[in-house]
Formats: sequence, structure tokens, C-alpha cells
Amino acid sequence: MTGVLALEPDRTLRELALAAARAAPVPVTVQDGVAESLPASDASIDVVVSSLVLCSVADQSVALAEAVRVLRPGGLLLFYEHVRSAHRMLAAAEDLVTPLWTRMAGGCHPNRDTVGVIAGAGLTVQGVERFGFSVLPGNPRLAHVLGVASKP
Ligand SMILES: C[S@@+](CC[C@H](N)C(=O)[O-])C[C@H]1O[C@@H](n2cnc3c(N)ncnc32)[C@H](O)[C@@H]1O
Repeated sequence: MTGVLALEPDRTLRELALAAARAAPVPVTVQDGVAESLPASDASIDVVVSSLVLCSVADQSVALAEAVRVLRPGGLLLFYEHVRSAHRMLAAAEDLVTPLWTRMAGGCHPNRDTVGVIAGAGLTVQGVERFGFSVLPGNPRLAHVLGVASKP
């Protein structure tokens, strides 16, 4: 199969994804589903993309093991995620707010070492750009990463 398979477990966000898919210049199939159980056979996928999802999955190791399973050897994980601050005090503040934040923000965790978990899953991190970014004006800038990892 050639195309894009997009998974979104939230019904409202899935409807937005479907509208975006209809306007996309390439065929995109949008389905209900989660990163921990990808509807693809082993080593069948060229590229897995995670955009602000690994902050929200229940268990990053399980989701990344699934990505590794479906990627062909040499396949790529492209990721854009907000991650744990490199500053000790800010990271401690993120730890403090995480229980409430997670309940209020759909399971999102602001304090995850996502790049470390990607490397720990057996993927080779080829490059990571780290930068501060505030999603909404007036909100604190969070550490973000934009990167590429490959399956050996
Ligand atoms: C912060 S939003 C980001 C939305 C969008 N991906 C973007 O880049 O703007 C987090 C997204 O992760 C999705 N999500 C939460 N748990 C998930 C899971 N286990 N598997 C896949 N997606 C999940 C949520 O439904 C939501 O769409």
C-alpha cells in the first residue's frame, strides 16, 4: 500500500483530521486507533510520524515498541514533541504540575524524557533540534524537540 494511515483515538479530533485529510494532496486514511496497537504488519511501514502524541500515550515504551515493530529496517520515526526541561528547577516544576496537568490535558505529560525513551526503544537517533516554544501567547515556553530516528 502507498499512502498515509492516520490514527486518532479522540472522536472530535478525528473529525478534524478527516476534514484535513480530504484537503490533503496525497491519499490519507483516518482511523480510530492508538499508538500502542498499530494496525500494520511487521516491517511494513517506511515512516512513522509522531506529532505531539508521545506526551499523551499511557506508556511511551509500548508505543515505541509498536513503531519499531511496524517499521521496515532503515525506516524512520519522525517526531515533534514537547519534552522535559533541561533546567533542573523547571523540570522539578514540571514534575510538580504533572498529576493535575495530566488530568486536565487529556493525559498529556509535560515532564517526559522522550528522546531518551526513543533511543531506549532501539531506534538510532539521527538528529534532534531542541527549542523553546509557547503554544499560546502568554503560556510558558516548553522545551520541544524535532527529530529523526531510524530502525537499524
Ligand atoms: C496534544 S494533542 C496533539 C494533536 C495533534 N497530533 C497535533 O500535532 O496538533 C495529543 C494527541 O494525542 C492523541 N492521543 C492520545 N493518546 C493517544 C494514543 N494512545 N495513541 C495515539 N494518539 C493518542 C490525542 O487524541 C491527541 O490528538
